[in-house]
Amino acid sequence: MQIFFAPMEGITSVSLRSLHAKIFGGCDKYFTPFISTNDSVKLNGREKEDVDPDNSKGYTLVPQIISNDPDQSLLYIKLLKERYSYDEININMGCPSGTVTAKNKGSGLIRNTDLLDEYLDGLFEGAEKLAGDGFDLPDITVKTRIGYYSEDEYKNILDVFLRYPVKQFIIHPRTRNEFYGGSVHMDVFSAMYDELKKKGALVCYNGDIKTVSDLEDIVKRFPDLDAVMTGRGILTDPSLGRRFRGGRGVTREEYLEYMESLLDIYSGRIGNDKFVLAKMKDLWNFSVNAFCGNEKGYKEMCKAVSVESYRICMRQYIRNSDLRV
Ligand SMILES: Cc1cc2nc3c(=O)[nH]c(=O)nc-3n(C[C@H](O)[C@H](O)[C@H](O)COP(=O)(O)O)c2cc1C
Repeated sequence: MQIFFAPMEGITSVSLRSLHAKIFGGCDKYFTPFISTNDSVKLNGREKEDVDPDNSKGYTLVPQIISNDPDQSLLYIKLLKERYSYDEININMGCPSGTVTAKNKGSGLIRNTDLLDEYLDGLFEGAEKLAGDGFDLPDITVKTRIGYYSEDEYKNILDVFLRYPVKQFIIHPRTRNEFYGGSVHMDVFSAMYDELKKKGALVCYNGDIKTVSDLEDIVKRFPDLDAVMTGRGILTDPSLGRRFRGGRGVTREEYLEYMESLLDIYSGRIGNDKFVLAKMKDLWNFSVNAFCGNEKGYKEMCKAVSVESYRICMRQYIRNSDLRV
C-alpha cells in the first residue's frame, strides 16, 4: 500500500515537500495544492514553482488542478504533460471553501451530479480524442468528498464516477458541509471502495490518519486498498510514512532540523519577517500536536515578532517540550 502526502494550500510548499522527502521520506507521492484553471492557460509564479520538476527532485509529485470546465482542464493536462512531463494529473472535487464552491469547483462540482457528469463526459471525450491523435495521455485521478450537504448523496455521485475511466479515486469521506470536523463516514467509504474496486479503479483513503496504528487498522479493514493519504497527521508526525515502513520515529533533533531549515528557507525566499512568521505559524497549528507539557513555551513562540527571536523560541520550545509522537 502506498502513502501519499496530502496537498494543503499555503502549507505544503515546494520547500516543505523537498525538506520532508529529504529528512523523513516514507511517502510514495506528494501532491501540489490546487491550480485553478482559466482561459489563458497560464500558470502564475507559485504554480510554476510548484510544478517545475527541478524543484521536486528525489520524490514523486502529482500536480492537482481545480476546474469545472473540461476544455480548460484538457489544456492544463496537455501543458503539464508536454512542458513538465507529468504522468498523472489529479482533479480536486473536495475543496470546501465558499469562494471555490460558489464557482461550482472543488466540492461545488459534486453538489450537482448533472454538472459532474457533463464535466467528466467532456473531459474523457476530449482525452480520448487527444489519445487518438497520438498524445500520450497522463493518468487522470480524482480527489473527492462523498457529498455536499449529506452523506446520502454518495450513491448518485458514485453512479457518475463509475461511468468514467478515472485511474484512482482519493476519497475523503466527509461532506462539504462537514469541512474537516466530526467523524468520517467509514460506512460510505466502504460502499464506494467496494464498487470502485469492482470496476478496476485504484482507491485511496484520506481522512484523520494520524498514527501507524490508524494505518494498520485501515489496511486490516481494506486489505486491497491501494493508498492512504495523510495531511494533518503527517504535519504533526513527519515520520509517519517512514514508521509505517518499519523505520524510526521522529527525534527531537530531527524536528528541530526540519523546522529550522524551513525557517531559513522561508526567510531567504520571502524576506519580510512578518510573512515568514505567518507561514511558520500556519504550519505550527498542526505541528504543535506533536508536543506537550510546555504551553508557555508555545505562547512565547507565537508572540515572537522577528525571525531571529522566533528561531530562539522555537529551539527552546522543541527542546523543552515532551515529544508525544
Ligand atoms: C489548510 C488546508 C489546505 C488544504 N488544501 C488542499 C488543496 O489544495 N487540495 C486538496 O485536494 N486538499 C486540500 N486540503 C485537504 C487535505 O488535502 C486533506 O484532504 C484533509 O486535510 C483531510 O485529510 P487529513 O485528515 O489527513 O488532514 C487542505 C486542507 C487544509 C486543512
